[in-house]
Amino acid sequence: MSSSAQPKDLLTVGEVTARTGVAASALRFYEAEGLITAERNRGNQRLYRRHMLRRISLILAARRLGIPLADVAQIFTTLPADEAPSHRDWVRVSRVWKRELEDRRRYIVNLERQLTACIGCGCLSMRSCDLLNPDDRLGTRGQGPVRLDEPA
Ligand code: FES
Repeated sequence: MSSSAQPKDLLTVGEVTARTGVAASALRFYEAEGLITAERNRGNQRLYRRHMLRRISLILAARRLGIPLADVAQIFTTLPADEAPSHRDWVRVSRVWKRELEDRRRYIVNLERQLTACIGCGCLSMRSCDLLNPDDRLGTRGQGPVRLDEPA
């Protein structure tokens, strides 16, 4: 146990799983991926600093938004591992996430708008493909549904 950590700041695996709803096996996985850190007591049991609850919650939120864990891990490398991140730390992280979320929001809006129209995927299966992607000309711009990546 670190000398600076107060016992009340350290949570057992059971306490973390009860508070977050995340299984112990997932906590071990997150730790192995460098997303969270744990300390060990004399009995070699994992103990988590309380501020890891926030990281775990953000991991869960990111998963719901489809943000890859590797991206979350990358962002978390900028946070202090052995103390609670400061407000300034979270402002910095939120700026990165804001850009990511804006990109995703734009993509979702485009998907909603174009779900019943041609998305430029090369299938040429809709009536609107004749107009919006004749002979799959959009295929020269890139792979996949190229019209979804266009600005709204
Ligand atoms: S929907 Fe696939 S090319 Fe138009």
